[in-house]
Formats: sequence, C-alpha cells, structure tokens
Amino acid sequence: MQGRSMSTTSNALLSLDGVCVAYRQHEVVHDVSLDVAAGEVVALIGPSGAGKSSLLRAINFLEPPSKGRILLEGREVGGTRRSLDALRRDVGMVFQSFNLFPHLTALENVMLAPVHTLGVPTEQARDRAMKQLAHVGLADHADVKPSKCSGGQQQRIAIARALAMEPKVMLFDEPTSSLDPELGAEVLATMRTLAGEGMTMVVVTHEMHFAEDVADRVVFMADGRVVEVNSAGKLMRDPKHPRTQRFLDAVRNR
Ligand SMILES: Nc1ncnc2c1ncn2[C@@H]1O[C@H](COP(=O)(O)OP(=O)(O)OP(=O)(O)O)[C@@H](O)[C@H]1O
Ligand SMILES: [Mg+2]
Repeated sequence: MQGRSMSTTSNALLSLDGVCVAYRQHEVVHDVSLDVAAGEVVALIGPSGAGKSSLLRAINFLEPPSKGRILLEGREVGGTRRSLDALRRDVGMVFQSFNLFPHLTALENVMLAPVHTLGVPTEQARDRAMKQLAHVGLADHADVKPSKCSGGQQQRIAIARALAMEPKVMLFDEPTSSLDPELGAEVLATMRTLAGEGMTMVVVTHEMHFAEDVADRVVFMADGRVVEVNSAGKLMRDPKHPRTQRFLDAVRNR
C-alpha cells in the first residue's frame, strides 16, 4: 500500500506466520500461516490427527511453535516471560474437558484468575464474574459446585472463566465433543452469542453446522497442513480440494 511500504504487518488481530509444531523433533504441524481479523470467527476442521489441537495450543504457547511466529496486534509474542503473560491474558482458551476446580463454586472458579493473575480486587472480580456467568446463562448457578452442574453448564462456566480475563481472542478446542447433543447445543448457542457480539474466535470443531453457520472462514487441515481456506459457505458447500471433498463427504454420510 502506498505510504505504508515499510510496514510488513497486516491489520490482523492474530497472525500465524510459518508456524510448525514438533513433539521431540517429530513435526506434526507444517508451516501454517493464517491471519485472523478482529471480530472474525475461524473454524478449524479436519480429520483426527491433522494437527488442529497442536496448532491451537501453539497459538498460546501451551505447545511453543518449533518454528514460525505468532503475532497479536502485530507484535510477536512468546519470546519473553512478559510477552507470554500478556499472551495468556489476551488469549482465552476453552478445552473439551472443562478443568474446573471441584472444590470451588462456579463463581469462585470464574473469579480465580482475575484475582490471582491480574490482581483485580475481590469485590470487582466478583462483579465481573457474576456478569460473565449471567452472560452464559448461569447467574443462578453462581454458588453451585461443578459436580452439581450438567456437562453443558460446566462448559459454560469454563467459557465464563475465560471471558472474565477479558481476552482479545478466544480459542476453543472441540468444546462440545464430550457432551450429548442437547447439552452441546447450549454451549454452541453461547458461542454463537459471543460471535454475534464480535468476539474474535478460533474454533476447532466437528460441528459442521456450526462451522457453516457461525464461522466467517473455515480452515481445512489434514496431515499437519492447511489444505484449503475459504469463506465458510464456499468451503462447506463447494470445496475445491479433493481432500476437503473427501472429508466433508465422510462426515456428512456418517
Ligand atoms: N503431546 C504429544 N506428544 C506427541 N505427539 C503428539 C502429542 N499431541 C499430539 N501428538 C501427535 O500429533 C499429531 C497431531 O495431533 P493433534 O492432537 O494436534 O490432532 P487433531 O487434529 O487435534 O486430532 P483430533 O481431531 O483427534 O483431536 C498426531 O499424530 C498426534 O499423535
Ligand atoms: Mg484435537
């Protein structure tokens, strides 16, 4: 662009630049580059073992990339302790397993990180946590322990917990795959609301309807590589690559 010729950064909120992930020298994610704009919802789909979870974990350095860079708002992250702390603050993550503390109430689970890692005063953290629980439809469960909640409710508490850090990006790794369809639907509805509010999201999912309806773009991965990226409608309805076609045929005819 004229006048910006010195700038190499895009206006992406999150950028992956040549990201590789390796476990003990064995590379399982190869050279993935992807820009995610503010407010964009990107669904990551593909067969088991494609490297979707590995890539997602590389984004917030739970599994540091073996090569390549992660940039948040144009700044490279993960190099120093400080930038790692900032990254963990700015990038919320929700897993298949909820990992809530069983001895704490829903409210206490949601308050924990803001108080302990951000140093938010308790009363303020409590207000914020209540707001997030209301946001996921669980204001009435504030004082309940996770074991007394359904799987769908526990997952929504986990979403509230991530939101309480006021992240810039939310990463989801198959958040509904351990839930029966009805409870999964509650969680998907919450995610749909978040997307509608403009949250930037990267979602690994086997829910093809969710990918098609809620995501702006879909990334199809196989064998550790991005095979095809397109707008959700195009990729889901008119996949170009034979590998994508094969995958979509298989999941739809299941
Ligand atoms: N901690 C680990 N140590 C060694 N290898 C791993 C580890 N985690 C994943 N792998 C390997 O990396 C590859 C990619 O796995 P990954 O879990 O990222 O795939 P995925 O696309 O998320 O699959 P799924 O849909 O089953 O969750 C697989 O071959 C897997 O066996
Ligand atoms: Mg996975």
